[in-house]
Amino acid sequence: MNQACIADLLAHPRVLETHDHMHHSVPKHDHMLRVARYAYFLAPLLGADQRTSTRAAILHDIDSRLGTLTTHGAIAARVAAELGEPEAVSLAIVSHMYPFGPRPTTREGWVLAVADKLASFRDMTSFIGGLFSGRSLAERRRLCASDPFYAERMAKRRQRRAMISRILLHRSRKALAE
Ligand SMILES: [Fe+2]
Ligand SMILES: [Fe+2]
Repeated sequence: MNQACIADLLAHPRVLETHDHMHHSVPKHDHMLRVARYAYFLAPLLGADQRTSTRAAILHDIDSRLGTLTTHGAIAARVAAELGEPEAVSLAIVSHMYPFGPRPTTREGWVLAVADKLASFRDMTSFIGGLFSGRSLAERRRLCASDPFYAERMAKRRQRRAMISRILLHRSRKALAE
């Protein structure tokens, strides 16, 4: 893939920060770049605009946590518009979860929906492949610590465990004293 058509987006802070966000147990940046590669090659085959498809791909899951399986496409589409992308990019992003969500209305939308499925499958096989060397779990631990969403969840989980330990300790001391 010639990255020239997305060079500015690859350097954008909103895209750079996805190196530290988790998506399908891999860095979100890996997933979005994988989708961009598939979109880049699929676009000419489906008669879609290559630049639009690839730019939509590198932004398609930004802020996905703020929505659900069916609504996060609309959230990422809004972010793309805020970043100054043309309507065709947002239109492609909004339907990338099809059939979980709206049906694509443009060729670029179909490219992105197919590219996302292929890349998601590849994310999974890459994660499973890395389980044997320990790479996948090490990367997952790193992402749990660096991703604000998971870091917060882990902190809450640690607090809950500490509270349960305190209660159990208190009860066992009480039982021993009786
Ligand atoms: Fe998505
Ligand atoms: Fe995706």
